Amino acid sequence: MKGIILAGGTGSRLFPNTIAVSKQLLPIYDKPLIYYPLSVLMLAEIREILIISTEKDLPHYQQLLQDGSSLGLSLHYAAQKTPRGLADAFLVGEDFISQDSVCLVLGDNVFYGQNLSLLLQNAKKNIENGGAAVFGCMVRDPREFGVVEFDEQNRVISIEEKPRCPKSNYAVPGLYLYDNQVVRIAKQVQPSARGEIEITSVNNEYRKNGRLTVTLMGRGISWLDTGSPKGMHKASGFVKTVQEMQGFYIACIEEIAWRKGFISTEQLRRLGEQLSMTDYGKYILSIAEEGVK
Ligand code: G1P
Repeated sequence: MKGIILAGGTGSRLFPNTIAVSKQLLPIYDKPLIYYPLSVLMLAEIREILIISTEKDLPHYQQLLQDGSSLGLSLHYAAQKTPRGLADAFLVGEDFISQDSVCLVLGDNVFYGQNLSLLLQNAKKNIENGGAAVFGCMVRDPREFGVVEFDEQNRVISIEEKPRCPKSNYAVPGLYLYDNQVVRIAKQVQPSARGEIEITSVNNEYRKNGRLTVTLMGRGISWLDTGSPKGMHKASGFVKTVQEMQGFYIACIEEIAWRKGFISTEQLRRLGEQLSMTDYGKYILSIAEEGVK
């Protein structure tokens, strides 16, 4: 399975923060926002990843993450000329996806929880024989999201994009797994009223054909909002609190690369040394020192 991180958009909801800098490069506490969705793909053991952004911003992502080899990854980059909607990721990424299945994660979605790795492995298994897998997260106000409705048997009845009167409190977060059909389906999707090729339309296509699995993320997993300055501030506070209390870092991509066996302890140590002037770097060095997975 291949991975795509969509890190485009104008970030207008965060102006003036995002006039000169792409949203997904802004910090959530001690690391750039894109580290969080990247860590999700790594936890899913996806190592071939395409980063999609605007032409203006791509060089900055390349400067930050390079070709990914120091993390045992293979990173590719592609420009989205105009922000045409999330499903456009499959058109921009068509050659990259080739004959493979694909996991799309939105560059501004932050997830945290103990069973995330297991949840992702299961979702991958769910689509081994085709179909799509998405998730449902309980939120207080789902009106800004894709919203999934279930019947008494927990079967999905509908998914609506930003409904005025949501039929449930389950929002669909920006993490989606698809078989190779997604490219064909995305090509057929008609733009919505807001002029975008909606990911919700793609999901509904799979649903209509009985090929969509929706797994609820439950209370053990936190999905954090970064759609506003307040959301980013809260997410930063969350990361800081967890890291200080537990001593474990969230979305430390170097640590994940090592724990997943993508890089050796020696490679991890070298990555830590490059950042040894910061607590983040010191944390990496302490993990390398420990040497126990
Ligand atoms: C997008 C999707 C929506 C999904 C959300 C998750 O919304 O269209 O279905 O619930 O991401 O972050 P947007 O960020 O375009 O408002």
